[in-house]
Parts: sequence; structure tokens; C-alpha cells
Amino acid sequence: MNIEKEYFGQTRDGESVHRYLVEGSRGASVALIDFGAIVQSVRMPDRDGRVDEISLGFDSLRGYLDEHPYFGATVGRYANRIANGRFELGGQTFTLASNNGPNHLHGGVRGFDKALWSGSPVQTETECGVRFKLTSPDGEEGYPGELQVSVLYMLDVENRLTISYEANTSRPTPVNLTNHTYWNLSGAGSGEILGHQLSIVADRYLPVDESLIPTGELAFVEGGAMDFRNPLEIGSRFDSVEGGYDHCFVLGDSASETPRPAAILRDPASGRLMRVSTTEPGIQLYTGNFLDGTKGAGGKIFGRLGALCLEAQHFPDSPNQESFPSTVLSPGDTYRQVTIHEFSAA
Ligand code: GLA
Repeated sequence: MNIEKEYFGQTRDGESVHRYLVEGSRGASVALIDFGAIVQSVRMPDRDGRVDEISLGFDSLRGYLDEHPYFGATVGRYANRIANGRFELGGQTFTLASNNGPNHLHGGVRGFDKALWSGSPVQTETECGVRFKLTSPDGEEGYPGELQVSVLYMLDVENRLTISYEANTSRPTPVNLTNHTYWNLSGAGSGEILGHQLSIVADRYLPVDESLIPTGELAFVEGGAMDFRNPLEIGSRFDSVEGGYDHCFVLGDSASETPRPAAILRDPASGRLMRVSTTEPGIQLYTGNFLDGTKGAGGKIFGRLGALCLEAQHFPDSPNQESFPSTVLSPGDTYRQVTIHEFSAA
């Protein structure tokens, strides 16, 4: 295992950004940058040992400084939507930016994906990676409390990428962190992901209204387009999902202490397979419905349905939905999440 740190560019405030390249087994590698604690590249071998880029990203910092659809980003303070950018906590109403129609999305105008984190390499005998730390000030983007956050990415000799999050706060605040990597196991920019096969360990999902806020119902997937309990080709029932998949699946009634199996994504063409397990109660399947032809790494064009995200997280709009597992972190408690991506090819 090996890690290399290199200069990646400068923020508009003149701060230096670094890229960390972590090398795994059989030619695999993961690259991370301290701007946004972003996964900039994931390269994995296919069944014949051919290594290819399987995540969407940019070659240079510029793409990440401008607006982009959260390629590889660490998303926070609250990933996904909060209805009307408003919630109540401790008898007080908090107002956040409405940056997605009427709703608040992915932490606001300047979320954790646009912050410069401080990175330090971590290495053990079997794993290698980077720990990123960030202090989110009290009141940032309207959220209460100063939040100390850390995200640790570790790649091991089996090409398992483990993302471990921790957070502490000075005042009660909602916290919901996720990683927003877009996957195309056939290769980034190689076309639509409708031929990928997906299974999700969920017998329920969260139906949403027209602005993608959960209605509060936990609906059974039973036989419909949301039924991924057995491997299903993503394209096979796609036409019956208005706008494409952008739904949260229920993995459990609460967060778990240790990661549990959540999803398996397989690309029959390359033989690549990604197994996801997580401590989170939900996982958002987003099929890149809003991708619009962004020019990314290697000059590749990332068009609609050109990749998909599997975002481990708490349920969207939890701060306004009493029946959902709580996302409130209190002073003295520690937020913890562990999500594992295990790669193989056959
Ligand atoms: C999330 C959301 C989507 C979309 C993307 C970013 O996955 O659920 O609706 O906003 O982020 O484009």
C-alpha cells in the first residue's frame, strides 16, 4: 500500500489544495482531495484486469470550485432535502437556504463540499488513506452549533474502501453526512448505467412528493419498480419511475452500531461489482437524472443516466418528520457513520 500527496491547485481565496493518491491491489487506486473531502478518482480492474476510472470527477480543481452536481463530494451538514429550508429544534425555528426549488439541499449554498478540509495521511500494515477534518462554525448556512467533523477514507489490500465519519457539536443540531460519488462500473463517460444490476436490502422505501420530499409513508417495495430485493437491471422498470430513481430506501428502523449489507451493484459488461454496507438507516438511489453533459476528467461527457449514486444516509427531511429516526446530535454525543465499498470483478 502506498500514498502520495501532490499539489492540486488553489482555491479562489488563494489556499492550496492537495490530492492524495492511494494505491490498492491489482492496479486499483483511489484519489482524494482536501477541497470538499472529495473522492476525485476511483480506478478498479475489470474481470480481465483492465483498470478503468469508475467514478465521475474532474482532472483539475477548477471543475470542483465551480457549480457541479456533487461529484465525489462529502455532503453536509445535512445531506439531501429539508422541506422549505426550515426546521424547529428546542422551540426555535431555524431557516436555511432554499437552494433546490422550495427546499434546502445538501447543506446549502456553501456546503461541506465547498469547504477546504485539512487532510493527513493515515497508514497501517493493511490499509492506507486520509483523514480530513473540518470545523463548521456556529450558524454556518443557518445551522446551530459549531460542528467538528472528520471523515476518514481507508483503502485496504482487498480493495475495500471504508469511509468513517465522526462529528461533535456545541449546540443541538441536525447532522446527516454522506458521500456523493457517481458510479459507472463500465467506466466513467462510457454511457448510461441502465444495464447495471442492482440489489438493495430494503423491503420499504420513502415515496416523495413533486419536490422530492418524503410524504412520511414507508411504502413496501413489493414487486414494483422499487423492488431491488433480488438483483434487478436498472433499466428494466425505469420507465415507470417518473423522472428516474431519486429515492431513499429503508435499510433499518434506526442506525446500527456496525455496518450491515445495503446494496450490490454489478456491471455484467466488465464484471465489476461493488458491495456497499453501512451503519445508516437509509440509502438514496439517484440515477443521475439531472446530469446534463458536463465535461469531466479525460474530456469525457457525463450525460443523463451516465452514472448512479448510492448515498448512505438518514432519511431526507428527518428534522421535520417525527416518525423518522432522529438526526439531532447533542453536545457530549458523537455522530458516527461507517460505510464500506467493497470492489471485485468476476
Ligand atoms: C442528490 C439528490 C438529487 C440531486 C443530486 C445532485 O442525489 O437526491 O435529487 O439533487 O443530489 O444533483
